[in-house]
Amino acid sequence: MKAVILAAGKATRLRPVTLTMPKALVPVANKTLIGYAFDVLKAAGFDEIGIVVNDLDSPLPQTLGDGAALGIRLQYIVQAEQKGLAHAVGLCRDFVGNEPFCVFLGDNIFQDKMSSMFANFLTSDAESAIALGEVSDPTRFGIAELNDDGSIARVVEKPKEPKSNLAISGVYLFRPSIFDAIDRIKPSWRNELEITDAIQRLVDDGKRVDSYILKGWWIDAGKPDAIVLANQLVLEELPYTPANEDKTQIIGNSTVTHRVILGKNSQVIDSVVRGPVIIGDNTVIRNSYVGPYTALGDNVTIEGSEIEASIVMKNCTISNIKGRIDSSLLADNAQLSAANHMPETHRFVLAENSYVQL
Ligand code: G1P
Repeated sequence: MKAVILAAGKATRLRPVTLTMPKALVPVANKTLIGYAFDVLKAAGFDEIGIVVNDLDSPLPQTLGDGAALGIRLQYIVQAEQKGLAHAVGLCRDFVGNEPFCVFLGDNIFQDKMSSMFANFLTSDAESAIALGEVSDPTRFGIAELNDDGSIARVVEKPKEPKSNLAISGVYLFRPSIFDAIDRIKPSWRNELEITDAIQRLVDDGKRVDSYILKGWWIDAGKPDAIVLANQLVLEELPYTPANEDKTQIIGNSTVTHRVILGKNSQVIDSVVRGPVIIGDNTVIRNSYVGPYTALGDNVTIEGSEIEASIVMKNCTISNIKGRIDSSLLADNAQLSAANHMPETHRFVLAENSYVQL
């Protein structure tokens, strides 16, 4: 079966991280955001996936290729201009053909695998089914009102006066009829073709649109805080593993608790690592504390510092920082160090939208 992952957005809310890296490749617990979408889709039997990107010559196709290494078949569809989710879906018409298909927003991450939603849709006569999650800020989302039987009565994109707190979460099941609905909608106030409006078209046409209420957490990981939170929620689910006592990796006066995944050739020297924590390959932790809900990528060095509930991507160095680093996001190659000479000044080289709290 075919699925489409929409990953062409500019991800401005996640700058500066996304100035050099598409949002879909941002690591959460050392796995790319899009990797979580692949997991859900593969488990549901979607093995042919079209990824909508803004340029074929971009890191996403370069990194993921044809998907063979991941056990899926990947194709890329270009949405050169950001004209909305419905526009992006409309570009997938040839890829999708005549079968039911799934649309997955590439920046959403779910605890729920949604298997019953996928299974039920294929045997139902519904024209679409959408996953809904309860939110506290419904004006930020597409919002659904339900009929008594759970089918969709109405969907509205970012309503000023929401009639429910059930948000459209970013997993949609469609039949090819959605393409005709997309052809008949007009751009919204934000000048985008909204997939929410196309779904409302189906409802207006008298077609049945089913709903599925998500179980567990769901994060729209579009902002740094949301990425850090997603990292914590995923690490929270790390299964129990006993404390690593390998003397080639755990060295000197070190304590590494259970639920710590330590990559190849990584070392913990005279340090405390308290799980759940995931650490990539060739990373060194020296004279430091790495606390719960932290993900360190490959080739990271942490020395003389304390850090928790944070994401540190590959090739970063953190050395001799006073005070504990918390809820932070460091993208590839970031360097954080204390001055080892007088005057003890703070010195920054920050990209657009960088954020520092001392
Ligand atoms: C989009 C959809 C909206 C949905 C949301 C989920 O919003 O338009 O209906 O609730 O994704 O993340 P956007 O992220 O474009 O504001």
